[in-house]
Amino acid sequence: MAAEPDPDRALADLRALRALTEDDRGAQRVAWTDTWAQARRWLVERLAGLPVRVDTDEAGNLWAVLDGASPDTVVLGSHIDSVPDGGWLDGALGVLGGLEVLRTLAASGTPPPVTVALVDWADEEGARFGRSLLGSGLATGTLDPRDVRDVADRDGVALADALRAHGVDVRAAPAARSRLEPVVAYLELHIEQGPVLERDGLSVGVVTGTAGVERHAVRIRGQAVQGGGFPMDARRDALVAGARLVLAVREAARDARSRATVGAIAVRPAIPTAVPGLCELTIDQRHPDADALAAMVNEVHDAAARIAVDERVAIDFERIWAIAPVAFDDDLVALGEETAREVTGGSVRLFSGALHDAAAVASAGVPAVMLFVQSAGGISHAPEEDTAPEHLAAGVRTLARLADRVIARSARPPG
Ligand code: GLV
Ligand code: MN
Ligand code: MN
Repeated sequence: MAAEPDPDRALADLRALRALTEDDRGAQRVAWTDTWAQARRWLVERLAGLPVRVDTDEAGNLWAVLDGASPDTVVLGSHIDSVPDGGWLDGALGVLGGLEVLRTLAASGTPPPVTVALVDWADEEGARFGRSLLGSGLATGTLDPRDVRDVADRDGVALADALRAHGVDVRAAPAARSRLEPVVAYLELHIEQGPVLERDGLSVGVVTGTAGVERHAVRIRGQAVQGGGFPMDARRDALVAGARLVLAVREAARDARSRATVGAIAVRPAIPTAVPGLCELTIDQRHPDADALAAMVNEVHDAAARIAVDERVAIDFERIWAIAPVAFDDDLVALGEETAREVTGGSVRLFSGALHDAAAVASAGVPAVMLFVQSAGGISHAPEEDTAPEHLAAGVRTLARLADRVIARSARPPG
């Protein structure tokens, strides 16, 4: 059997990254910021000393490649970027768990039968520009650079300029596709970000796929007026219309498998003495079934049309991001489940409502699977995000064992 990983080393790395990139409000590794770049420099330092080739592709993804006997490549990956005020494990676990697997393979002294790569995808979260899976989407071709040409953050900084400051020319990003050509399997370890594994008393589960997502930016235009002088029944209050829309978004997600979030909202002029004339918000709707997702989206559009009439406002939707539901590779799911049972004594199949880079990779036709480790209280995208060390260790061990199996399976027969 191949060498065993040392989960304590992965835990020490996770804690060190946390200390480096967290402030009193949580993790601040938002992609394309100085703190993110600092986290990446730290990761490159952690890779020094390993017999790997380290570089960044045209889409800004960081790769560390351990050459094997064959160019066929098994990839382990996730993302080191976080949401603002985020947690210490979302994304970081997959990258640093993958690093420990790479370290273990390298320590064996002989090249593996296939090449093994670690990838830190750039900007999985889409926190700043609203476009999730940016680096993996550009590299896999599931995202076209033309779709992000005019995108800016809330301070008006263009996405293209923010990426250029980190050495990425977004127009050239599709060239990163060549990295996927030799890839025969993609494995991603991640925290669950939900309650199932904790409830079931399990450390590790295997993920069967990810939900479809429809994300819109909504602009509601009413009329700003003096709040003291203007009668209630004559107002065209953009925020009142927005508040009604938020409730309609929740109502359209009544099915137990639906998810819908209004996570950002802003009004103008945003002073106590003026009725808001402008309200802008984002709607993120998710469902494992593409038809059900389309029905949710239509229901909210219909509700918006009614609210616009009632409140005498204009409501415009701009579709800013979407992905279809993704099913992971059946064989890898079965292997992941068997491995998790063997390593941890039990497992379950889960479906992910959260997005992951594995969805972009699988959409590009690469066999992919994910392992989840339990999340304390199901909390994530918050500084309270946590997982007990024994579950993190179980996740790293399961990833290592699964990688061993996938590497052995991918090796070409001699001759
Ligand atoms: C990523 O964290 C997402 O689910 O949007
Ligand atoms: Mn994540
Ligand atoms: Mn996340």
